Amino acid sequence: MARTREELLQRLEDLNQRALQGGGADRIARQHAAGKLTARERIDLLLDPGSFVELDRLVAHHCHDFGMEQQKLPGDGVVTGYGAVDGRKVFVFAQDFTVFGGSLGAAYASKICKIMDLAMKVGAPVVGLNDSGGARIQEGVESLAGYADIFLRNTLASGVIPQLSAIMGPCAGGAVYSPAITDLIFMVENTSYMFITGPEVIKAVTHETVTKEELGGASTHASRSGVAHFTASDDRACIAQLREVLAYLPSNNTEDPPRKASTDAADRESTALDTLVPVESNRPYDMKEVIAEIVDEGVFTEVAPMFAMNMVCGFARIDGRPVGVVANQPAVLAGCLDINASMKAARFVRFCDCFNIPLVTFVDVPGFLPGTDQEYGGIIKHGAKLLFAYAEATVAKITVITRKAYGGAYDVMASKHIRADLNLAWPTAEIAVMGSDGAVNIIHKGEIDKSADPAATRSRFVDQYQRTFANPFKAAELGFIDEVIHPRVTRQRLARALDLLKDKRETLPQKKHGNIPL
Ligand code: HXC
Repeated sequence: MARTREELLQRLEDLNQRALQGGGADRIARQHAAGKLTARERIDLLLDPGSFVELDRLVAHHCHDFGMEQQKLPGDGVVTGYGAVDGRKVFVFAQDFTVFGGSLGAAYASKICKIMDLAMKVGAPVVGLNDSGGARIQEGVESLAGYADIFLRNTLASGVIPQLSAIMGPCAGGAVYSPAITDLIFMVENTSYMFITGPEVIKAVTHETVTKEELGGASTHASRSGVAHFTASDDRACIAQLREVLAYLPSNNTEDPPRKASTDAADRESTALDTLVPVESNRPYDMKEVIAEIVDEGVFTEVAPMFAMNMVCGFARIDGRPVGVVANQPAVLAGCLDINASMKAARFVRFCDCFNIPLVTFVDVPGFLPGTDQEYGGIIKHGAKLLFAYAEATVAKITVITRKAYGGAYDVMASKHIRADLNLAWPTAEIAVMGSDGAVNIIHKGEIDKSADPAATRSRFVDQYQRTFANPFKAAELGFIDEVIHPRVTRQRLARALDLLKDKRETLPQKKHGNIPL
């Protein structure tokens, strides 16, 4: 008997219903009881209402081992497709923990690869919402192959389209490496974790006792490892962060980041800045106050705020234009450069450079952190990462020295010599090889030791050194500083500089790729 149109429609309806139910009411209830939203609820929150177009809703696995042929669900545990965030195209995959624990098999991986391939063709970001028990054990090596297919695409897409990963449940073993290759990682507190080997394996191998949360929870990765860039109290807050960050980013590497109308006048002066930096060189102040005074409406979206707090990185807008802010934080470790600060800033600088986000650098750095920990830990190669990243970046680079710019750290922090476009300094800037005390101890040691009144002699030399070097005027005389400005006009100068540089074009020598000291 010929099939009827009604039968076909009914079959489609049945399949759709089964797919929409995921792992069923019980498992959805368990997901909610654990404080987590379902994959579809997450996508609904992420995308503009009504914009989601699902692909591959009817894909099912083709595994015949361990009784899997009896357990086929349309969609196979991952929801994929595209939609819009603030009206701009975005691809998304959401792992559905209610289906086989969100575990990844061959068909599931192909669904993710398909949207990644489409995203590359049309030049749009991919957002991954991760919540999975990892490789689907019943599918064996096919599952490992699926992961590798995704890792390859993550790598090829790096620097072409933004890739954001939210960790909203388990993410363990090799599964962590897809998020790790993407640009930014968002984690939900208490419900998500990432680790290579879990607490049981660690106990067996090293006899250490550690909880899942201590080992790989959001706060661990936000403050200790630096793996996570953003953390949120729950799924909703995490998704709101994803939307906030996407608003700063272009859809791909050939576009400029989206400019947003601002109610904050570009030439607004901030008199608070005139007195914000203490005259005493060793008194701390909060660089985030400087940033808040300068950027549009004081809105600063900080990246990795709990990791390497001596370095501040984040997104903001000036005259509506997105910028990447990199700043030494004199309130923590005097703002010195150490291993973690260098790695954090280097990755952020490269991210901004990939996606045409101008870099605004605020400098108050006494130098590199001394110590055996740092030397044995490889500060040489890690500090070199930041130097390399800044030197290689061809995006607009504007630098403001607020106070100290000493030694190699002066060169590293977007100095004129590594192709910053405009270098500004406040009158409080101190640009020298080292601070006055250290310098005098070296170059006047003999005279101080021989003098009848060593303290007075020393103080005279310190005074002389400070008058010569603890200011921006020598560097300005040499053209290394383009302008010494009153702090209050910093916002206005930055807005003009960004306008000047909006069509900047600079290229690198032809090469396969550079060899950044990893
Ligand atoms: C198949 C899995 C699964 C997996 C969970 N499930 N993980 N099915 N493959 N990897 C299933 C469970 O059998 C269960 O099915 C359902 O998902 C929910 O799991 P529960 O254990 O009931 O949930 P919960 O107590 O919340 O524990 C979640 C969990 C645990 C911590 C993730 O399930 C777990 O430890 N899973 C194994 C994790 C793992 O070792 N994965 C492989 C890692 S190696 P039913 O039908 O009972 O509801 C890896 C390598 C990647 O991923 C390599 C890339 C190169």
